[in-house]
Amino acid sequence: MTTIAYAHPNIALIKYWGKAPDQGNVPATPSLSVTLDTLVTRTAIETADADRFELDGRPVEDKKLAACLADLRAHYDVPPLVIRSRNNFPTAAGLASSASGFAALVTAIDGHCRLGMDAATRSTFARRASGSAARSIFGGFVALDGPDWAARPLLERADWPLRVVVAVTSAAPKAVASSAGMRLSMASPFYPAWVTSTHEDFRLAVDHVRNRDFDALAELAEHSCLKMHGLMLATRPGLVYWNPVTLECLHRIRALRAAGLPVFCTIDAGPQVKAICLPEAAGRVAAELRAIPGVIEILEIGLGSGASLEAP
Ligand code: DP6
Repeated sequence: MTTIAYAHPNIALIKYWGKAPDQGNVPATPSLSVTLDTLVTRTAIETADADRFELDGRPVEDKKLAACLADLRAHYDVPPLVIRSRNNFPTAAGLASSASGFAALVTAIDGHCRLGMDAATRSTFARRASGSAARSIFGGFVALDGPDWAARPLLERADWPLRVVVAVTSAAPKAVASSAGMRLSMASPFYPAWVTSTHEDFRLAVDHVRNRDFDALAELAEHSCLKMHGLMLATRPGLVYWNPVTLECLHRIRALRAAGLPVFCTIDAGPQVKAICLPEAAGRVAAELRAIPGVIEILEIGLGSGASLEAP
């Protein structure tokens, strides 16, 4: 019997960067995200004689995946599994493949082994594997904060159908993985201010989402992104995830907002640029970003649903 689960990546508007010391991948900062549609991880699971993992058709050894399976097995009866995972987008290039990957994995194992987890429990196991994965369990607007550090839905996608225009500026894997980058950043002199101020940013952003206040969310989300990149730059050695095209896209998006278009920019631990906008602005934003030399591809994406099993 094969069990199949799907999960979408998410984009943080208030960023998670940094971990609470010695607590099993507990984030040091709360975060708030939107789950995407179109981009998807599909994970198929079968019971086997020994664990085997394939990513996009190739056998892979993955420490985080092995740790996630060990964590599940410490709590549930999970047999050896063959896990086949596919992304319809570039892996490890700042499009959050680990988020959709672990959300799909935990959902598939829960369904395959009939573990009976609720969504909060799946979110907690996904979070222990990769912080951002906790948020991909849910669709629409999602919050991840303490004390329990299971994500929770804030607003359904139909209640505020924002659009996300992704400008792909490089298909290369990122230079420094998020977990390693975060550990380095925690020694930065900027780090304590980042953690303290992000708690306040998060509280305000939850209100802006509930009020569907685009302008307030735009200003705050762009600030959270640039503040995280400020911390990354102030890490030793400095974490520079941008390329010249990334910066060109950032300037273009800010110029469009200054000209009155409802759009803002966010960038994660990679060179891709995500422009978040009201639906009426998406066509113009996509055209403007497509015209920038060096932009490889433009993806225009809506907000998506949470992780789910394929109906048998
Ligand atoms: C910049 O969730 O990939 O995308 O918990 O170590 O797996 P680990 O980190 P990860 O970090 C995501 C960082 C980010 C911001 C965000 O998504 O909140």
